[in-house]
Amino acid sequence: MTAMPDFPPGFVWGVSTAAYQIEGATKDDGRGPSVWDVFAAREGTISDGHTGDVACDHYHRWPEDVSLMGGLGLTGYRFSISWSRILPSGSGAVNAAGVAFYDRLVDGLLERGIAPVPTLFHWDLPQGLEDGGGWMNRDTAHRFAEYTEIMADALGDRVKRWITLNEPFVHMAWGYALGSHAPGRVLLFDALPTAHHQLLGHGLATRALQSRGLEAMISNNCTPVSPESPGDEAAASAYDNLHNRLFLDPIHLGRYPDLSAYGDDGTLGGSVRDGDLEIISTRPDAQGINYYNPTLIRTPAEPGLPFEEARIEGVPRTAFDWPIVPDGLRELLVRFKQRYPGLPPVYITENGCSVADEVVDGAVHDPDRVAYLDAHLRAIHAAIEEGVDVRGYFTWTLLDNFEWAEGYHQRFGLIHVDHETQVRTPKTSYGWYRDLIADQLSRT
Ligand code: NOJ
Repeated sequence: MTAMPDFPPGFVWGVSTAAYQIEGATKDDGRGPSVWDVFAAREGTISDGHTGDVACDHYHRWPEDVSLMGGLGLTGYRFSISWSRILPSGSGAVNAAGVAFYDRLVDGLLERGIAPVPTLFHWDLPQGLEDGGGWMNRDTAHRFAEYTEIMADALGDRVKRWITLNEPFVHMAWGYALGSHAPGRVLLFDALPTAHHQLLGHGLATRALQSRGLEAMISNNCTPVSPESPGDEAAASAYDNLHNRLFLDPIHLGRYPDLSAYGDDGTLGGSVRDGDLEIISTRPDAQGINYYNPTLIRTPAEPGLPFEEARIEGVPRTAFDWPIVPDGLRELLVRFKQRYPGLPPVYITENGCSVADEVVDGAVHDPDRVAYLDAHLRAIHAAIEEGVDVRGYFTWTLLDNFEWAEGYHQRFGLIHVDHETQVRTPKTSYGWYRDLIADQLSRT
């Protein structure tokens, strides 16, 4: 491999995780149930009946995990806060023991020179709020703003940069429309209000953070969408509107994209009220982008949905069978810069791949992950050279963890976790990332 080109001074080198995927300890110290606890306990929801009850036991083993992060030489760590540790039923009295956990974590990170970047919502809604309708209920956006204020007041003296929501598209689509994620509702396009209410929550949280002098961004999962052939352009644009633009246009352009292909009149199922878009388009300090792969779309053979996904041929694939197309990340970043002239600085808040890693003689050799990360970083660098202001990279993920409906079957970590013993074994990619970070920091 040729040497990695220089990234700009101050570029953040990070990793990303999420509470339900690593913490475990779902009943400790007053934590209330989240939709994921309830969903995973239901038979047939998760591969092999796995749950996040123990996960990587990070709640107890966080000092070891923070040392492993220190060993990487990270300058940033994106983790998520479990809302139901802070407010066991979603609102009301604060659970001090829950706040204390994140307080200790933040101090542990800062001692190692790692900037904490918390995500306030990574899909684990307190079950108490789901019982009242979850994100279908507008009130959840206001409860989210209150919870944001609590965390900003608790950690804002040490934590400057915050992420409001993680991947609201996935939460709407898999959680509320199709039901393969918690809370497991199958509302199809009647789930559109969950997009608006999440975005409203994001806007209210952004204002709460900024009024305290803190920075706010959202992490969207984004994909460059292409038509399979020229006749598929209408289908591709309908998909782009749903996956990307639904969650970016209201923030950066102050309006929703055309959703008429989904039978919506622009009110997201009647949920949009006067003044909402003004709140949602409060200028964020940055934009988080999670990128895994591009999407190829064609016109469906049968009537029904306005699009159909086509298989991308001729490229390598991950253990999850996701196509590996690093240049898709450059393409996406350049497209967004053109589409959103006022786009704030960008952070890549997730990017990584699952590999069927195994421990052999005490070591885990994962050259495919190294190649994946290397190629995606070069694609980001190419986008920076084309004028996109990318300020940091948080790879997904630190530890092999609970991969939602797949349970523990998909391994995305730089560190292998034996889910029986909790033994952590840094993979080859861990050493590669450590050396890359050290080299980059020595150049600036
Ligand atoms: C995006 C999600 O935010 C994260 O939770 C998940 O594990 C990765 N993608 C990989 O699927």
